[in-house]
Amino acid sequence: MDQAPGSHRVYGRRRGRPLRPNQRERAATLLPQLALTLPRDGRIEPAVLFEKAIVPIWVEIGFGGGEHLAEQAASHPEIGFIGCEVYENGVAKLVREVERLGLGNVRIFAEDGRLLLDALPVQSIDRVFVLFPDPWPKLRHHKRRIVSGATLDRLAEIMRDGAELRLATDDRDYLRWMLERVTGHPAFLWLARRPVDWRERPPDWPQTRYEAKARAAGRAPFFLRLARRPRTATLLRQEGVSLY
Ligand SMILES: C[S@@+](CC[C@H](N)C(=O)[O-])C[C@H]1O[C@@H](n2cnc3c(N)ncnc32)[C@H](O)[C@@H]1O
Repeated sequence: MDQAPGSHRVYGRRRGRPLRPNQRERAATLLPQLALTLPRDGRIEPAVLFEKAIVPIWVEIGFGGGEHLAEQAASHPEIGFIGCEVYENGVAKLVREVERLGLGNVRIFAEDGRLLLDALPVQSIDRVFVLFPDPWPKLRHHKRRIVSGATLDRLAEIMRDGAELRLATDDRDYLRWMLERVTGHPAFLWLARRPVDWRERPPDWPQTRYEAKARAAGRAPFFLRLARRPRTATLLRQEGVSLY
């Protein structure tokens, strides 16, 4: 069963080892410049978050150590990136990478990513990544899974027509769960044509730490690319007219 819409609760660790002195120093000086907090009215206008007005915005939820986000941001200086992560040590790692690579196009939301999704305007996001989210394998924990009907409904609202959603997992049960939800959702189109499309990571998709861990443990990772269907097509589809 999916989590009820609007009921956000984060499970899992927020803190690991105490931050090292240099991480603490960066958290005190650089993080406030990068951090994104919810304004009082609860609305975030993503295009004005960056020094120059950037229009394409990509969001990563649960960026872990931030290696994928930092590499994407370095390859795409013309795109604004918002990374969400609740794990303090992961946030500290991304802050270090932003400093090391001199990235000016990254903002960090160190809170539940679903709060960010709720705060973003409709049709404002061009790509979303949810890579190796916690699989919560026990049946009674399935409702904690971040890929849910409610999350997909909100993503469908904030993503522009044609925007891409990228999901990854190394858990076969979560893969099945994801596929059931995305292929059953009227707003999303699974872009795979052949097995290689979901068994191999596309070249423009940097490896994450969890993918490396999964491979080292002998678990195959799976990569899903979905397109946000054009809104008129979605409406027609809901009315039973098939366009694809
Ligand atoms: C299994 S790890 C994967 C990390 C990274 N994506 C990777 O592939 O290496 C899942 C991450 O999602 C984060 N997370 C879980 N729920 C979250 C939420 N609601 N909002 C933001 N981050 C979340 C966890 O703290 C954890 O770092």
